[in-house]
Amino acid sequence: MAPPAPQSQLAARRSKLLRLIAIIILALIVLVGLVVLIIWLVVKPKGLAYDIENGSIHGFSLSDNHLNATFDFVLRAYNPNRKVAIYYDSMQVSVAYDDQTVASNGVQPFFQRHRNVTRLEVQLVAQSLLLSGPVSKDLQRERSSGKVELEVRVKARIRFKVGTWKSKHRTLRVFCLPVVHFSSHKDFGRTKCEIDL
Ligand SMILES: *[C@@H]1O[C@H](CO)[C@@H](O)[C@H](O)[C@H]1NC(C)=O
Ligand SMILES: *[C@@H]1O[C@H](CO)[C@@H](O)[C@H](O)[C@H]1NC(C)=O
Ligand SMILES: *[C@@H]1O[C@H](CO)[C@@H](O)[C@H](O)[C@H]1NC(C)=O
Repeated sequence: MAPPAPQSQLAARRSKLLRLIAIIILALIVLVGLVVLIIWLVVKPKGLAYDIENGSIHGFSLSDNHLNATFDFVLRAYNPNRKVAIYYDSMQVSVAYDDQTVASNGVQPFFQRHRNVTRLEVQLVAQSLLLSGPVSKDLQRERSSGKVELEVRVKARIRFKVGTWKSKHRTLRVFCLPVVHFSSHKDFGRTKCEIDL
């Protein structure tokens, strides 16, 4: 018959081993948390900022629910981050009125460095575009009143780059509501935009 001493020694050794494993796992969790925190603090991602610097409309005419117009504007994209650069792999810009898209076009893909301001000169054309009856009526009315509220929308597929690491694709949406003053030069001034990422 075996004496009880070695048995309890074995149990003690086993519980010591389990405690060691628990401590190692805990330490690993804390370490991973710290690394994530440090990367976050170093990279500190900040929100992107968009606005329309200025813009104007040329060749506006509306008759029989058909619209002709050329929209010119400068879209200003600001990346305030110190460590994060952005790949704009595709970008679509459109102008809508009363929720109906009246003109749209693509923008050349580009790479935006950290702390960079990129000005995109956009020209969108509506030619003999058929508007729905109510939209056409609204536009005619606002046009006569001298102020037309447009919506500029941007949809882009972007990736972030930090050092050599690149994120997955994400969809960036931008909305701006410029007001065109027909009474003066058919232009619109600086307009801040909202971002949805
Ligand atoms: C925006 O303003 C600049 C400087 O005043 C001007 O040269 C440019 O033509 C304007 N762009 C539009 C689209 O109105
Ligand atoms: C729009 O432009 C087209 C081609 O230049 C022209 O045939 C049409 O009559 C114009 N429509 C309006 C509403 O001015
Ligand atoms: C931002 O990047 C573009 C393209 O690389 C460059 O043309 C422009 O000068 C840069 N602007 C600033 C403010 O760094």
